[in-house]
Amino acid sequence: MPAYVIVGMQWGDEGKGKIVDYLTRQASMVVRHQGGNNAGHTLVVNGKQTILHLVPSGILHDETVCVIGNGTVLDPGVLLAEIDGIEAAGHSCAGRLFLSPSAHVIMPYHKLLDKAQETFRGKDKIGTTGRGIGPAYADKADRFGIRMGDLVNPALFGDKLAAVLEYKNKILRDCFGESPLAFDAVWAECSAYAERLRPYVADTVAMVHRALAKKERVVFEGAQGSMLDLDHGTFPYVTSSTTLAGGVCAGAGIGPKDITGVIGIVKAYSTRVGEGPFPTELTCETGALLRARGNEYGATTGRPRRCGWIDCVQLRRAAMLNGATSLVLTKPDVLSAVDAVQICTAYRLDGAVVTEFPSQIDDLARVEPVFEEMPGWKTDISDCRAWEELPGTAQRYFERIEALVGVPIDIVSVGPGREQTIDRRDPFG
Ligand code: GDP
Ligand code: IMO
Ligand code: MG
Repeated sequence: MPAYVIVGMQWGDEGKGKIVDYLTRQASMVVRHQGGNNAGHTLVVNGKQTILHLVPSGILHDETVCVIGNGTVLDPGVLLAEIDGIEAAGHSCAGRLFLSPSAHVIMPYHKLLDKAQETFRGKDKIGTTGRGIGPAYADKADRFGIRMGDLVNPALFGDKLAAVLEYKNKILRDCFGESPLAFDAVWAECSAYAERLRPYVADTVAMVHRALAKKERVVFEGAQGSMLDLDHGTFPYVTSSTTLAGGVCAGAGIGPKDITGVIGIVKAYSTRVGEGPFPTELTCETGALLRARGNEYGATTGRPRRCGWIDCVQLRRAAMLNGATSLVLTKPDVLSAVDAVQICTAYRLDGAVVTEFPSQIDDLARVEPVFEEMPGWKTDISDCRAWEELPGTAQRYFERIEALVGVPIDIVSVGPGREQTIDRRDPFG
């Protein structure tokens, strides 16, 4: 069955949104299956920028069905603002955007708790986006969560909210010294959202399976990146969902055998927002140059992204964890500014050279990267539209990454625009 997963191979912000939008011309359905509005996915079409947080990046293609699956966490106010923005730009959401009734709702207390927990952690803070993601997923596991199906059911919602709010107010007040939330205000706000969102709620599992049964191509759009995965990332400096390709099964309700391919999105250098180890980080002028040239500021929070060289030890691990079948390389145009590029091929850990990514964070925090230097291309490549038009130096850099990661690069992106894309091979082929 023609289901393809698109997954971030680093720490997020690899350019997933751009590539999902680009590939949607060959797909009938785009599905978000995890994360929430901690994501910021940027699309540039005909020079116009759109930043999406929850709505799948297929929405600018008017024939494509977009699904927000059960594994996501939804902030209803943010979602409605996003829908309004998309409709104002001339793309209708009604009748082609669908929400799972099993997706958990990010409630006002989740956002308060996210901030309060970060303050409590002090110097050990995670650097979350403050969007209530962790507390919403915690409530799902704790079975205090309110789901979209509850929100849009007036007969259920009031009672559920009353029970949960009593508990949450106790924590807000007694643990964090925060003011409790008034039931009437939360109920009124959420009920207004529910009125507007009710028509979008549908059995998304059945929809995805109907599409797959008809052999329509379905693209699953990952949010965040492999190293932010709750189990396999740099815990505790991770997000609270399964960001890896395997998360699609639980987060959208398909079986592993339904997945045809896994397309990993790799930035030509590395970035990370928030705290946590980052072996190839450049705290020098070169890092600042990449940040400026790559406009590396968070699409959600505006925070400057930490920048560094590409890390093939980390990428090999991500390829393994996801079962990546092909890669898309983004933003090599940013590297046109440097004389030479560095590729991390191994780590030095306590005097020994290791080529496996350490699974323990205290080891990862101690490693020193081993670099291989290659000449830069020192020329603008943003107008290249075919592999053959790329300078030989750039081609050799890409081929070296392929060899080190062990997965072929099928597409190269050379700018933020939809058209600034080089097809080398069909990733759906
Ligand atoms: P996502 O979270 O993975 O969807 O990525 P973001 O949208 O957060 O960040 C990627 C940024 O790089 C956005 O500003 C994109 O417009 C931009 N971008 C994507 N691909 C390219 C590329 O090939 N070259 C350049 N220069 N910018 C790109
Ligand atoms: P996209 O989909 C980059 C990071 C946060 C923080 C950690 C936990 O745009 O690639 P959270 O709010 O999820 O509890 O924060 O995860 N983070 C991201 N970093 N891109 C993202 O999404 C991210 N979503 C969360 O900065 O370090
Ligand atoms: Mg992003």
